[in-house]
Amino acid sequence: MQRLLPTVQFDCQLLQKYDQPLPRYTSYPPATELKPEFETIDFRAAIAVSNYKKTPLSLYCHIPFCDSACYFCGCNTVITRRREIADPYLGYLVRQIQQMAQWIDQERTVQQMHWGGGTPNYFSLSQIETLWAAIHEHFRFDPKAEISIEVNPKSLDQNYLFALKNLGFNRISFGIQDFNLNVQEAVNRVQPESMLFDVMQWSRDAGFESVNVDLIYGLPFQTLETFQNTIRKTIQLDPDRIAVFNFAYVPWLKPVQRRIPQDALPSAAEKLTILQIVIEELTQHGYQYIGMDHFAKPNDELAVAQREGQLHRNFQGYTTKPESDLIGFGVTSISMLNDVYVQNYKRLKDFYRAMDANALPIERGVTLNQDDIIRRTVIMELMCQFQLSPDDIEQKYHLGFDLDFETYFAQEKFQLRRLEADGLIRLSPNHIEVTPTGRLLIRNIASAFDAYLRQNTKSNFSRAV
Ligand SMILES: C[S@@+](CC[C@H](N)C(=O)[O-])C[C@H]1O[C@@H](n2cnc3c(N)ncnc32)[C@H](O)[C@@H]1O
Ligand code: SF4
Repeated sequence: MQRLLPTVQFDCQLLQKYDQPLPRYTSYPPATELKPEFETIDFRAAIAVSNYKKTPLSLYCHIPFCDSACYFCGCNTVITRRREIADPYLGYLVRQIQQMAQWIDQERTVQQMHWGGGTPNYFSLSQIETLWAAIHEHFRFDPKAEISIEVNPKSLDQNYLFALKNLGFNRISFGIQDFNLNVQEAVNRVQPESMLFDVMQWSRDAGFESVNVDLIYGLPFQTLETFQNTIRKTIQLDPDRIAVFNFAYVPWLKPVQRRIPQDALPSAAEKLTILQIVIEELTQHGYQYIGMDHFAKPNDELAVAQREGQLHRNFQGYTTKPESDLIGFGVTSISMLNDVYVQNYKRLKDFYRAMDANALPIERGVTLNQDDIIRRTVIMELMCQFQLSPDDIEQKYHLGFDLDFETYFAQEKFQLRRLEADGLIRLSPNHIEVTPTGRLLIRNIASAFDAYLRQNTKSNFSRAV
């Protein structure tokens, strides 16, 4: 299949028309389909199957703690300055690592590991080293493994960053959100510009292979001018990857967001002009649009992988690593073993109680059926490659002879024709291609194949634009 150049085109009217709550499709079915009725025995069975297949591993460690609450935050966090909370958590994290390690075939190698939060640098260096040692005692790493960590620049110094690099982390990500002081104050996250430039310089000096920064548009008091300034400063920082997240405003799920003055939020029209400027500035400065809020320098491995058709997507977002089984350690972490997804307990005390009982700390889960698996491939292909070959899907899943792609997805046809009429996709007999306009609405296009969305009348998802 010929690879498409991932350019992107802004169309204000269409973005407004398609602005609706949708999943982000880091997985299909989305995490909302994980249910408490799930039987943990099915997870043990999935481990056995994945051991047999010797699928490579991707590990995730969740460190939920933060010193103070950023009012926009939609992550799974525990806000506390009582640092003594970290040691017991570390102990339970190590216990979960030991628990999983006894079931996972030792020959399987880890090709990707990510530590996220919350704030992983809430841990002291010695706690970081303990966790690192526990994982490395039990799992074998591919020498080329992608090992990344999210840090909050506020509580970071040069020594800490160098120590992370020396341990073996090779990618780092930190949150900027916005350079403007008014915005920073309104969301309770004041971080001076000089600090952000220092953290970037230290990351470069330490030699991380890829440095990512996060921005959010749609925050209170943002205007076109302020955000243009934020984007320009970010370009000066020169990160390898930039995530520009659309503010997921879900106060019904995240009560901390009620502290944000609602009348200070930019209007939908203002947000769209901000998004337009973001795309213009970043692409003019050579960043490639990867998809779903992500931009990367053309020589960054994500951009290269996208051009070569080797981009993948899992619960950790876009990745260059193909098929791997994800194992999540710590509260709220998700594990994904081929056709089984599970999520750990969200509350510390439930997680601790399960570990004390030597039980699996699973709160909910789902086992995918064959239809889920087919739709997952279709959705991930569209999200990563911006195109799809129905022939490939037919061959991969032996839809063949009496059941071809068209028949299988007959119900979706109407929706696909609508997307085509609006210029978001181009349909030909054996090709679905996402247009440059459609790339910004990739969630909407993917959602045409989401069987759960049709059943879901009540939605908790954030808006697509
Ligand atoms: C776990 S945090 C990153 C690490 C660290 N805690 C920090 O804040 O620097 C992950 C990122 O998610 C993004 N984020 C958090 N809440 C969000 C929301 N409600 N809408 C959009 N993006 C959000 C922010 O850009 C944030 O940097
Ligand atoms: S944005 Fe980061 S530091 Fe702020 S509350 Fe969320 S996880 Fe914590």
